[in-house]
Amino acid sequence: MNRILITGGSGFIGSHTCLHLLSEGYDIFVIDSLVNSSEKSINQIKKFFKEEKNKVLNNLRFFKGDLKDKDFINNVFKVAQKENNPIKGVIHFAGLKAVGESVSQPLLYWDNNVIGSYNLIKSMSENDCRTIVFSSSATVYGSSSIDLLREDSTLAPTNPYGTTKLSVENLLKDINQSKNKNWRIAILRYFNPIGAHKSGLIGENPLQKPNNIFPIIINSAFTKEKLKVFGNDWPTEDGTCIRDYIHVMDLAEGHLKSLNYLIENDPQLLTLNIGKGRGISVIELIKTFENVNNISVPFEFDKRREGDVCKLVADNSKLKSILNWSPTKSLEEMCKDGWKWKNLNPKGYSEHN
Ligand SMILES: NC(=O)c1ccc[n+]([C@@H]2O[C@H](COP(=O)([O-])OP(=O)(O)OC[C@H]3O[C@@H](n4cnc5c(N)ncnc54)[C@H](O)[C@@H]3O)[C@@H](O)[C@H]2O)c1
Repeated sequence: MNRILITGGSGFIGSHTCLHLLSEGYDIFVIDSLVNSSEKSINQIKKFFKEEKNKVLNNLRFFKGDLKDKDFINNVFKVAQKENNPIKGVIHFAGLKAVGESVSQPLLYWDNNVIGSYNLIKSMSENDCRTIVFSSSATVYGSSSIDLLREDSTLAPTNPYGTTKLSVENLLKDINQSKNKNWRIAILRYFNPIGAHKSGLIGENPLQKPNNIFPIIINSAFTKEKLKVFGNDWPTEDGTCIRDYIHVMDLAEGHLKSLNYLIENDPQLLTLNIGKGRGISVIELIKTFENVNNISVPFEFDKRREGDVCKLVADNSKLKSILNWSPTKSLEEMCKDGWKWKNLNPKGYSEHN
């Protein structure tokens, strides 16, 4: 059974990917420092399989630790080797992601995201594991005004978070050109993951005040506090910003497809946009959320927020042609599943054991 290491596996996207990989029969090792998550997400994954009376629980191992500590990473590789089931590939989610915080504390972001990734890649190389799927972001495109962003569009991040993502991409490009040509690398640039697992057992659990619109919509529906829509004078049909939303379980599937593609094909570096390729305005998202869940989301317009970009939508044709796959879940499912998670867990993971 293929053993996969998932860094940042107790976070939002990581936990959904862990659940998906376990469902598909993989053995997983999870590393997380819990700097922005709770181990309770891992307990909830276990609960899901217990409820299903499924034995895959034995295939999940959690290691609390930080990627800034290379000895710790090496030890995790050694545990796997001692069991004669070495780590076959890595899905690397671990990283800090708050744009505003990255502007005020760039060194924290370089240290955590770049040095952490460097340690991981070095440790992989030393332990003869050269398959990695890396979480990059549409942020690397910066404030492009292009209608649909292609993988070869200009890269010009506008904040340290984006710069650290691009730096890790560059590191991966360099090692791909190295003497040892055996690296299999997928750089996945994701757009806007939202929603939750349909069980309602796991979901997005922001520890800090969220900056992204979907958890803000959920909170506003729940508390009835008015949310602010930044700008209704953008050059779009309804004047609000446009993003490309993707269901987090589709994103999890995209990781698995990428990993399998790498394992089954010759060494290479693959860069893919992971989005639905459909632009949704903030107002369209709010209205869909209201209609699907039969609930009101109070909002008011405010002026544009500094640093915001009008439109970020993926050209996902490369994803479709290479992986022969594209995200399938609808905006309605994203809204329904996200709201279910909130209703079943009003305080996130804090009320679970
Ligand atoms: N959520 C998004 O909208 C989005 C969009 C594009 C890219 N991404 C990227 O995807 C990845 C996962 O995002 P997410 O939304 O699940 O975020 P998240 O914060 O929920 O998950 C990241 C996890 O990494 C852990 N972590 C951070 N630094 C670590 C370190 N040095 N060592 C060990 N663990 C560490 C955190 O504790 C957390 O559990 C991140 O790299 C993020 O930058 C996210």
